[in-house]
Amino acid sequence: MIILGIETSCDETAAAVLKDGVVLSNIIASQIDTHKQYGGVYPEIASRLHIENIRGVVQQAVEEAGIAYQDIDAVGVTAMPGLIGALLVGVNFGKSLAFSLGKPVIAVNHVEAHIAAALIENGVEFPAVALVASGGHTSIYLCEHEGADYELLAKTRDDAAGEAFDKVARTLGLDYPGGPSIQKAAVGGDINALPIPQVRIEGSHDFSFSGIKTKVLNHVNKLEQQGQPIPVADIAASFQHAVAETLSSRLIELAEQHYARSVILCGGVAANELLRKSVAEKAAGAFNFIVPQPIYCTDNAAMVAKQAGYHFANDEFADISLNASSR
Ligand code: KG4
Ligand code: ZN
Repeated sequence: MIILGIETSCDETAAAVLKDGVVLSNIIASQIDTHKQYGGVYPEIASRLHIENIRGVVQQAVEEAGIAYQDIDAVGVTAMPGLIGALLVGVNFGKSLAFSLGKPVIAVNHVEAHIAAALIENGVEFPAVALVASGGHTSIYLCEHEGADYELLAKTRDDAAGEAFDKVARTLGLDYPGGPSIQKAAVGGDINALPIPQVRIEGSHDFSFSGIKTKVLNHVNKLEQQGQPIPVADIAASFQHAVAETLSSRLIELAEQHYARSVILCGGVAANELLRKSVAEKAAGAFNFIVPQPIYCTDNAAMVAKQAGYHFANDEFADISLNASSR
């Protein structure tokens, strides 16, 4: 079974071909260099760049996979959630292509696709507890089996973890996207330089990152007012450590409570080395720890095709009326 996956929910135009779940091609046209100058994703520009890039990206994915368009059994496309103008480009292209080939189109949820990324190169023993940490989401799910019906156990009440990385990076004068910039800046920094307490919401496992972000902002403002230099490495290291500790401890706590056999770490923030290390250490001896390689953590279409494969197996198809949804 050959599935073409298409992803345009944010700032990557991506297409991938999977055959029986195995990646034959995985093409990503990143818009980061364009959005960098605005310090974050500029939605209208994102839509316009998707329009410009999608034809070539899909063509390249098909060519690199060594297949012909007619070999495609179904087209899977991210239909929600994301930037609406960006999503519409992929949805419209995907269903038009499927229609012209006489093949079915499959609507994919971007968050479920991030979890599916963990299954591209790994077998997972269920039940699993999965943390999806990205620029738009920070949620923990109980997964009883692959593909669907995930139960939400915890979510962020305000900023997503990746959003906090991006905002703190901006405060420190570092480039967008903030995650990789902070990871780099934190090397050699002192994790105890800026004490950041763990945030706990009474009677809940939910996250809150806006307080951590504000603490960094206030600290930097104070130093600037005093005319003192900003210890970027120390602040980056302290922030990164605090976020990694919060995410990893909450994930393990919920895995214990739900008698999980595996813990899954996914989404763009899962590319963070300290977070990967922190979860690996806490999971050791108790859970199988599954984390995709970094290229499958940040937005890509292989994970979209992977998730579409589960829907294909369950006969879950969309039709030509398929629309996108920001939520
Ligand atoms: O999954 P993703 O590519 O797009 C969304 O669905 O949002 O995640 C993007 C987010 C950005 O906020 C980015 O700063 C963060 O993932 N990110 C990282 C790292 N690489 C990307 N955060 C921490 N450390 C990283 N190495
Ligand atoms: Zn994503």
